[in-house]
Amino acid sequence: MKKNVRTGIIGSGYAAQFHLDALQKVNVAAVDVTGVYSRNPQNAQKFASKNGLSSFTSLAEFINASDVLHVCTSPVSHEEIAIQVLQQNKDVIIEKPLTGYFGSDDSFNGETFSRKVGLEQAAASVKRMLEAEKASKGMIMYAENWIYAPAIQKEKEVIEKTKAQILWIQAQQSHSGSHSLDYGKWKFSGGGSLMGKGCHPLSAVIYLKAVEGMVLNGKPIRPKSVSCKTHAITRLSGFKNQGHLRDSYTDVEDHASVHLVFEDGTIADIVANELVHGGVKNYLEVHANNHRTICNLTPNNAMQTYNPADANFADIYVSEKIGTKQGWSNMSPDESWFNGYQHELDAFYKSHLSREEAESNSRLAADVIVTIYTAYLSAERKGEEVTIELEH
Ligand SMILES: NC(=O)c1ccc[n+]([C@@H]2O[C@H](COP(=O)([O-])OP(=O)(O)OC[C@H]3O[C@@H](n4cnc5c(N)ncnc54)[C@H](O)[C@@H]3O)[C@@H](O)[C@H]2O)c1
Repeated sequence: MKKNVRTGIIGSGYAAQFHLDALQKVNVAAVDVTGVYSRNPQNAQKFASKNGLSSFTSLAEFINASDVLHVCTSPVSHEEIAIQVLQQNKDVIIEKPLTGYFGSDDSFNGETFSRKVGLEQAAASVKRMLEAEKASKGMIMYAENWIYAPAIQKEKEVIEKTKAQILWIQAQQSHSGSHSLDYGKWKFSGGGSLMGKGCHPLSAVIYLKAVEGMVLNGKPIRPKSVSCKTHAITRLSGFKNQGHLRDSYTDVEDHASVHLVFEDGTIADIVANELVHGGVKNYLEVHANNHRTICNLTPNNAMQTYNPADANFADIYVSEKIGTKQGWSNMSPDESWFNGYQHELDAFYKSHLSREEAESNSRLAADVIVTIYTAYLSAERKGEEVTIELEH
């Protein structure tokens, strides 16, 4: 008999839907979705009726009626909601990025604020969340699906079994632009491409070096310094938009390039941007002392189709953010599987039942946020190498 777990979804946009879909594939528990709560009650109601759920108007009552809460809201709201969940001693699954710095008043401008203040404030937000977790019977599970993507888990096995030393990782998440209206305004998203997209490959890179460190030395190998350059290409006065790329970002970067140095002197290069056609590029390549691995999370050629007329595939899902369905496509037979969404939730519900911490936990999330905001400080200093001051 599987144990019943009452689950609440907070937010009613894109992430809320893929969480709900992945919940259908959770194996370890019998998940009973309590309902949905969102900032906009009309959207919550729409999401609820589409998915046969109840919609709640009181967050406190919603938390009380659930055992596990999924925070699928815009980053600016993560801290406040997560702390409320933890104060009610419930487990909280928080979408990436964990938290950040979103400014202090209405005159805030993401282009001009001091990155030093941003780093201090983002680190303070992380600290408040970690303290709330410490004081709670609940735990934070950091919804970084890359950690659970089958290709990354397979690479973990290779590193562990061959005692590999990773010398250099190249990794990227890029696509043609986020659908979320809150994304692109620093006061809601806490940053641009680096925050919204770069956090995925960055998390996987930090995780794999930690795996290596645990095998070789019994402790993680952590990031030590970072150099970063950011650009706003779609805001250049000369950018000619032909309608295939989103260009409505107000005060965030749409390209970031990060060079990371770990405490053992090895390196990683991460790119994140909003300038890429043809679907989401989710890629990580490991160059080790004893092997080389290329993880093509998306796109990959597990399935390829040729379609002579776009309209033929009108009601067929091909892959996320594909521009056209005409011609050759890397159709994804199960995108959620390649992205690790169902593996992630299965692991989180296992942790919920066993009370053992998840692999993608608040410590990993904290390291990622501090690294990102240190990278923004480096970008402000035109790419100067800056030391990453990690807590714990
Ligand atoms: N892991 C992934 O692959 C992935 C993909 C997309 C988005 N995300 C993350 O998921 C989160 C949501 O992104 P999205 O694309 O679904 O955005 P979205 O704009 O589609 O939806 C955001 C939802 O949050 C709700 N919301 C905002 N502030 C709220 C508040 N204070 N209280 C309650 N509800 C609130 C909005 O009403 C909306 O329903 C973000 O953190 C984003 O980075 C993760």
